[in-house]
Amino acid sequence: MNNDIIESMLNRKSIRKYTEEMPSEETIQTVVRAGQQAPFAAQLCSLLLTRGKGVPWGAPLMFTICVDLHRMEVIMAKRNWKMVTNDLSMLFFGIQDASLMAENMVNAAESLGMGSCFLGAAPYIADKIAKKYRLPERVFPLVQLVMGYPAENPPTRPRYPINFSLFEDRYPDFSDEMIEAAMKQMDEGYLAQEYYRKGKIKIRLEGARPETYTFDNYSWTEHISRKWGQWYESPDELLTQLEKRGFTINLPEKRDNNALE
Ligand SMILES: Cc1cc2nc3c(=O)[nH]c(=O)nc-3n(C[C@H](O)[C@H](O)[C@H](O)COP(=O)(O)O)c2cc1C
Repeated sequence: MNNDIIESMLNRKSIRKYTEEMPSEETIQTVVRAGQQAPFAAQLCSLLLTRGKGVPWGAPLMFTICVDLHRMEVIMAKRNWKMVTNDLSMLFFGIQDASLMAENMVNAAESLGMGSCFLGAAPYIADKIAKKYRLPERVFPLVQLVMGYPAENPPTRPRYPINFSLFEDRYPDFSDEMIEAAMKQMDEGYLAQEYYRKGKIKIRLEGARPETYTFDNYSWTEHISRKWGQWYESPDELLTQLEKRGFTINLPEKRDNNALE
């Protein structure tokens, strides 16, 4: 089954090389309007746009996509309301709103002949981004989206088999065959594209494990395992960034302690 929208979505891939061509004002506005029209819980997302200089991969545009509680609170204040919903719930709603808006923008860009790529570091450098864009408190940069006309045409990247993503009526007990088939599809897919070899991408082993992988067999499942097996063990870095932005995510014990103070 196919149509223009499905085809565009199935052909999408992250673009990491761009021409210098600046999209027209109308193009930019169209992408943002398409983003705005995504479903929302409460329109808890706002965007900051940077054009040209300093955007990664020579791209003309970069959107910094923010979870924005400030704008909501400004409106509530006009109605003489204060937000009492806890920040963790608001963060969940905000991440959902921002993600849906962002992906609508990705698809809109594709349909207009552009490409895009997300940059995931924003939450970890939220304080720096906040300074640069003069973000008020209660605005948290979630992710950045680089966009422009592609100067490369990489293949679409592999995904899990559909039977490892869609479970009908109940979550399955995974058989070894099922897991191995999914891993094979990912690993052989990336190896065939020489993704890690070409990009010289290999996450360094931090512990005592000896390095036994070469670019002949280093692929996605090893790469992603090394990430979540070594990085961000403590939530403190992220909690600190959230705190600096005026978001308070407390565990119940901590909240009780605070109440006693
Ligand atoms: C939240 C998020 C953060 C990402 N961060 C980065 C990043 O920092 N650098 C990068 O090159 N790609 C980044 N990507 C792009 C992914 O690497 C890419 O989507 C994934 O490898 C699948 O490839 P595809 O988009 O070409 O299908 C990010 C994607 C998402 C959704």
